[in-house]
Amino acid sequence: MKNIDARNHVQGKSIYLDDIPEINGTLYAVPFDAPVGHARIVKMDFTKAMNMPGIARIITAADIPGENQIGGIIPDEPLFAEGEIHFWGHPIGIILGTSEYACRKAREVIEIEYEALPVITCPREAQKQNHLIAPPRTFVLGDTSEHWAECDYVLEGKADVNGQEHLYIETQGAYARPKEDGCIWVASSTQGPTAVQKAIRKVLNLPMHKIEVDTVRLGGGFGGKEDQATAWAVMAALAAHVVQKPVKLSLHRMDDMRMTGKRHPYSADYKIGLNKDLKILCYEATFYQNAGAAADLSTSVLERTLFHCTNAYFIPNVKATAYSCKTNLPPNTAFRGFGGPQGMFVIEAAITKVAEQIGVTADQIQKANLVRNGDVFSYGQVIDKSEAHNSWNACVNTYNLEKIQAEIRAFNQSNYRFKKGVAVQPICFGISFTNTMMNHARALVHIYQDGSVVVSTGAVEMGQGVNTKLAQVAAITLGIPASWIRLESTNTLRVANTSPTAASAGADLNGKALQIACQNLMDRMMPVAQALLNTEANLQIKDGVVHKDNEATELTWQQLVLQSFMRRISLSEQAHYSTPVIQYDKTKEKGHPFAYHVYGTAILVVTVDCLRGTYVFDEVNIVHDLGKTLNADIDNGQIEGALVQGIGWMTLEEILFNDKGKLLTHALSTYKIPDIYSVPLQINIQHLDTPGHDLAILKSKAVGEPPLMYGLGAYFAIRNAVKAFNPNHDPNIDAPYTPEKVLMDLYSKRKA
Ligand code: MTE
Ligand code: HPA
Ligand code: MOS
Repeated sequence: MKNIDARNHVQGKSIYLDDIPEINGTLYAVPFDAPVGHARIVKMDFTKAMNMPGIARIITAADIPGENQIGGIIPDEPLFAEGEIHFWGHPIGIILGTSEYACRKAREVIEIEYEALPVITCPREAQKQNHLIAPPRTFVLGDTSEHWAECDYVLEGKADVNGQEHLYIETQGAYARPKEDGCIWVASSTQGPTAVQKAIRKVLNLPMHKIEVDTVRLGGGFGGKEDQATAWAVMAALAAHVVQKPVKLSLHRMDDMRMTGKRHPYSADYKIGLNKDLKILCYEATFYQNAGAAADLSTSVLERTLFHCTNAYFIPNVKATAYSCKTNLPPNTAFRGFGGPQGMFVIEAAITKVAEQIGVTADQIQKANLVRNGDVFSYGQVIDKSEAHNSWNACVNTYNLEKIQAEIRAFNQSNYRFKKGVAVQPICFGISFTNTMMNHARALVHIYQDGSVVVSTGAVEMGQGVNTKLAQVAAITLGIPASWIRLESTNTLRVANTSPTAASAGADLNGKALQIACQNLMDRMMPVAQALLNTEANLQIKDGVVHKDNEATELTWQQLVLQSFMRRISLSEQAHYSTPVIQYDKTKEKGHPFAYHVYGTAILVVTVDCLRGTYVFDEVNIVHDLGKTLNADIDNGQIEGALVQGIGWMTLEEILFNDKGKLLTHALSTYKIPDIYSVPLQINIQHLDTPGHDLAILKSKAVGEPPLMYGLGAYFAIRNAVKAFNPNHDPNIDAPYTPEKVLMDLYSKRKA
């Protein structure tokens, strides 16, 4: 089935936040922020700004009727800075005017005096000064201290990995409108409508039932709108509440890049120990997460770093500690993989470096340590249904890794200017919110008298195709064509108390709830069908026609619906699903947090131009575990998109702040994302043939985030090419591997 949005997207007819027709009298809001990384506000003067044409009002913390607080996990984040500025870009207030242009002009003449305070941008420095978001966490399996002596090879090192700008095509935004009785309607480009509703409740001091949050779709979220869509929606709601007029806030790209948080940069130390058979016996890691100036989702992101710090490998002795370090940067947030990729990068770095030390290829170590059924992760979950070896073997055999390696060796021997590198990248990613409490969802289904169906769930469509998958789930369960089903916007009045659409679990959680709702409707209508057909036999509906013994009967879906209605049977159903089995005990750091894991393996081949430091990915060959895919086109799209996003993070995308906390890469001119010229020349995707998992929707495994981590291999493939050119140099592990860094490493004389 095609993506149900494809036609409208291509024709430009899909409605995004900025396409919502504006009501007469709408005011526009533009935030103003601090051009300092850390400071006290001494004085603010809005007189000049208020006298600019078209300016209606300036709203600051002083206008907040409730609490000036939007922190979701830890209440440490004011909506508007009050007294103190914690990062460059910290919103202080919003300007309301008759056009965005007028507001931006007024912003230029706002006068604020600051008294500078010391700025910390480095997570290690923050940790030293004990600036932590929360106490550190440590995961332990076995006992590393007892087993180093058994290791034939031990290596210690450091690995750094930078952040990543989400660069959703649609910037953050919201449109709020006051309704009668102090109620408020807010359209928000958010992954979490309930999170927005809760924050508005707190800031406006309104009960949740007075707040309607509506989300049609996002022009991309990638985690950047899991928590950080909230502030802008609250600002619009606050302004609408204060002036009792519709207010629209849609961020300018450069404001968005400067004011919002990104993927967390991490700095890490590791120590790895292997025996002669290349079995990893011990692994220790310390992670310094750069959380930015407030918690946001950092503590949750941090735990996923620990959950995935051994990637797809079984290591009997593990000790991993992670610090969430508070710095004067915009609060960092969810980004596809949610801390997992950073954890996995460090073990891949350790394996790569120890392989170089031993004189083997990294894939020999990777292969020797893949998880098997019965192995246990450091957090206590016992592995069953591992596809780590299956995907590895399928990948290296299908695409012939040995041949690729031999060809690369031959190429590198006969070429000087160009060198090739290859890396194999296995992945293993846990599906479920790591916070067990969040793993539930609801669906609401109405069948109308004409047989058409409308579905509402808590899932937010952000381009990942969840609405198409949900339409398929309803169509399969009801036995009718998907074209008779409409997916409605995600709305807090229709489906309440939703978890954000995140953790790749959107289709699983909402799909399972929807499946239950549709099944309950069928259970009510099928007796009507039996009565109408005068039979007690089991009946099914296929393609909108009631079938008996696989034969079509006279009775159509439309007739059955109408007859059920006439018999006063409810044609509406609300259902709830919560993931069984999962549990986690934070006091012991043990449990079974994930419904299941997604596996896969990629082989990435790169050619580096050793004169220029540039590179091209020749091919990426993937075997991915989707179980029984519901929609191969959508899933392949997710794999390709995630892969390229992962490669971008590892290669071109470089976020730079100066030591005052100012973002230097604040526009597309200075922040490079992969374009059509930098995607791999060839991406081959094969699906691993597996039975799927019962906790995946219709056995179709979650796909949103896991394939991003194939991109990690890009870093190590480039490194291998660099080493082929400059074998005596031991480059630092410091992602992204930009062409500038590659060039430096190609010609560095520092000895390994
Ligand atoms: N794909 C597109 N096109 N746009 C997005 O914003 N977000 C990713 C992934 N794929 C995203 C995407 C992230 S971070 C997640 S968690 C999942 O989609 C969320 O959707 P799902 O739970 O339905 O997979
Ligand atoms: N993944 C993604 N988003 C989340 C999670 C998670 O595990 N927990 C809370 N938000
Ligand atoms: Mo995705 S980072 O869980 O929104």
